[in-house]
Amino acid sequence: MLSRSFLPESQQSQILAYSPMFHARLFGESQKYYDQHFQPTPLESDVPFLDGNPALDRPFFVQFCANEPQTLLAAAQRATPYCDAVDLNLGCPQGIAKKGHYGSFLQEDQELIHQLIKTLHENLDIPVTAKIRILDTKEATLKYAQNVLSAGASILTVHGRLRDQKGHLTGLADWKMIRYLRDNLPPETVIFANGNILQYEDLEECLAATGADGVMSAEGNLSNPGIFAPPPPPGEEPRGYWRGKDGKGGWRVDEVFRRYLDILHRHVLGVEPPARRPLFIPGDDTAWLEEPILLPGQDGSELKPKKRRTDAAKENPALLAANFIGMQPHLFHLLRHFVSRHTDVRNALARARLGDLAMYEAISGMVEKKTAEGLLEYEKTDGKSVEPATEPTQEEIDDPESSARAVRDCRRPWWVVQPIIRPLPKEAMAKGAIQMSKKERQRVAAEMAEKEQGKSKKRSRDDVEAAETVAAAEELQQTTSYPTSPLVSG
Ligand SMILES: Cc1cc2nc3c(=O)[nH]c(=O)nc-3n(C[C@H](O)[C@H](O)[C@H](O)COP(=O)(O)O)c2cc1C
Repeated sequence: MLSRSFLPESQQSQILAYSPMFHARLFGESQKYYDQHFQPTPLESDVPFLDGNPALDRPFFVQFCANEPQTLLAAAQRATPYCDAVDLNLGCPQGIAKKGHYGSFLQEDQELIHQLIKTLHENLDIPVTAKIRILDTKEATLKYAQNVLSAGASILTVHGRLRDQKGHLTGLADWKMIRYLRDNLPPETVIFANGNILQYEDLEECLAATGADGVMSAEGNLSNPGIFAPPPPPGEEPRGYWRGKDGKGGWRVDEVFRRYLDILHRHVLGVEPPARRPLFIPGDDTAWLEEPILLPGQDGSELKPKKRRTDAAKENPALLAANFIGMQPHLFHLLRHFVSRHTDVRNALARARLGDLAMYEAISGMVEKKTAEGLLEYEKTDGKSVEPATEPTQEEIDDPESSARAVRDCRRPWWVVQPIIRPLPKEAMAKGAIQMSKKERQRVAAEMAEKEQGKSKKRSRDDVEAAETVAAAEELQQTTSYPTSPLVSG
C-alpha cells in the first residue's frame, strides 16, 4: 500500500504485492500463526480488512514455502479467497530453509518441485506461480525453469543469483541468465526479473537487459517505497520530494514516515491520522523549529519501560499482528542513512514499544525537524553541506567488482530515502568482513605462489582473484552477520 501510494491511482494496480513467505504447514494448521501473519479480515469476521482487500491491496499474491504437496495445497486453499495467485518460494537461501528443507534447498529435488506446483495447478481456482534462483549453468537453469513451467506455473520469477550468493557473498545478480531464459522459453512465458534494482532508473534497464515482463524489488523497495514511481518533473516537485542542485532527487524521509503512519492509522486502527502541519520547505516560517519535541515520557507523562513482545501481547493480543511487529524493522530500513547521522532518532526508534503510535508520531516529528534543519543548512551552504569528503577514482568507478559506481549514483543527502548498498564480495573480503577457512587460505596461497612463478600466465591477476572469490564461496565463513530480521528470507 505504501509503494502504491507513490503512483497515481489509475496506475496503482501496476504494482503487484507479494505477502511475506509463509510456512505452509503452520499457515494451514496453526490458527495462532495464521492470525499473527495474515489479516485478510478482522479476527472473527468476514469483512475485508488488510491483506488482499479488493479496495486496497490488489493485485496480491500469497507466497509459501513448502516441501509436501498436500500441506501446501491446504495452506493455499486457505489463502485463495484473498489473493490473485499463490506463489511457491524456491529461492530462500537462509539456514532456516536448509534446516526445514524448503526454498532453494529443494533445487536438487526437481521431481518434488514439479509435484508441489502441479498439485496447486490442478486443485486451486487461482493460478500458481513460482520464484527460483539461477543454477550454475544456463542449461541447468533452463531445464529448471522448464520443469517449473511444465508443472503449471503461470509466472516465473527469477532471482538472478545462485543459492550461495547471500550475506556478504550476495554480489550482483546475473541478468544475462534471465535473458537466456527469455530467449529460450516460449515467448508467451511470463517472467519477472529480480536482483540489482537499487533505484527507479534500474527498472527500465533491467526490463531492457532481460526482456522480462516485470521486475521484482525487495530491498530497494524497503529502503525507498517510491522506487516504482517515476520522479516528478523538475519544477513540479511536491513538498515531500526533494531535488538537489545537481538535479538528483528523491522522496524525503519525513514524507515516507508520514505515509507509513497514515496507513497504520487509517487502515489498521481505522482512525484519521492526527492533524499535522504541511511538510517544511525552505522559505516557510521557521518559528516551529524552536519548539521542543517531547517524546512520551519526556513531557511529564509516565514513560513505560519497553516491554518484551510476549508481555505486551498478553495485555493486547492485537499487537502481535504483522503490521505492528514489522513496523520497527521497516522504519529502521527506511531511516538507515538518517539514523546513522542522528543517533537520538535511532535511540528513540529502538525504544518504541510495539504498536505505540504516539511514540512513533513523536519520532516522526523529530525526523521532520531534523529534515527541516538539513534543508536550511543545504540552502545556507549552497549545497556544500552534503558534499562527500572523497570521490571515488575513475578506476574504482570502472571496476565491475567495486560498488563505487552504485554508491556514487545512488548517493543522496540523509533526508532522502535511498538504497543500502552492500559491498561486493571482493570488497567485503578486503575489509575482513568475510574470511576464508584455513584450507581455503592454503589453497589460495598455493595458487598465488604458482601464479607468481609465472605458471598461470594465461590468466590475468583479476581473473584469478575473481575465480578464487567464487570458488571459495562454499568454504567461506561469515564473521559478521547478515540482517537477522525475521523478514529476511529470499
Ligand atoms: C528483508 C528481506 C525479506 C525477504 N523476504 C522474502 C520473502 O519472503 N520471499 C521471497 O521470495 N524473497 C524474499 N526476499 C528476497 C527478495 O525477494 C529478493 O529475491 C532478494 O532480496 C534480491 O532482490 P532485491 O535486490 O530486490 O532485494 C527478502 C529479502 C529481504 C532483504
